[in-house]
Amino acid sequence: MTNSTILLVGNCVLDKVWELEYFPQQDKEMRALGSTQVLGGNACNSAQILAQLGDDVELMSSLAEDSTARWILQELKKLGISTTFCVQHAGCSTAQSSIWLNSQNGSRTIVHHRDLPELTVNELKRVPLEHYEWIHFEGRNIASLLEYLPQLKKLVCPVSLEIEKNREGIEQLLPFINTVIVSSAYLESKQITAEQCLKSLRKYNSELNIACTLGASGLLAQDHSGKLIHLAAEQVDRVVDTVGAGDCFIAGLIHRLHKQHDFESALIYANKLAARKIQLKGMKFDVD
Ligand code: FRU
Repeated sequence: MTNSTILLVGNCVLDKVWELEYFPQQDKEMRALGSTQVLGGNACNSAQILAQLGDDVELMSSLAEDSTARWILQELKKLGISTTFCVQHAGCSTAQSSIWLNSQNGSRTIVHHRDLPELTVNELKRVPLEHYEWIHFEGRNIASLLEYLPQLKKLVCPVSLEIEKNREGIEQLLPFINTVIVSSAYLESKQITAEQCLKSLRKYNSELNIACTLGASGLLAQDHSGKLIHLAAEQVDRVVDTVGAGDCFIAGLIHRLHKQHDFESALIYANKLAARKIQLKGMKFDVD
């Protein structure tokens, strides 16, 4: 049985990262400066950071029954991340991304492939929720979560949700959530400002902690009491690698909120952690 205190439910991917001198031109050939194979996927990236911060983490993901999944599970084990509730499917392939990392500015261009079923309600129901002190959902399998999340109300465990993409019905999950992290991609797709987003999401749950992450423009947030918080992006000397910066931010936020810090100070910590991450290649760094 698991000893983990934080459960993350979401994507686990093999990332093949190609470091490039500049962004490639269409229909040309170029040499990469280097390539690495690393763990990826939003929930998996957050799990890697939380594990480095000293948290006991459980990652629940959908994987295939292939050599990629075997490699992923081995790597997660090395990092001390539990995978008891990962679901493996025969006859499909584990999700993979090919990532072009532009060394001029750290921008990342991701080509993602997946043909895996999302986690179902029955698979989610196998997890003994009473073991956890924090549960985070990446906000993917919306229909399943809408059926499953109402049971979590009975638990005295905070729940967070990432709204990265504008998936149909995702806002309906908010009555069951304490903290929501919204990406700028969601705002763009809805064609709304961060201020409008705070207003509209609060209608679903008046006690939400909401963080809208805005990349180089920092973030706009509102805590459960309604207090608005604006943080500028941290100044960094050089952006090296932005892959998973948002996932690192989420990890920092969960880490501090789980340790009973207030929302504003947890946001400040998460913002700084994400700024440190983009100055480093990959997800491994000395954290404190
Ligand atoms: C970064 C990331 C990558 C992954 C891609 C798609 O946030 O999680 O690690 O390849 O997004 O899930």
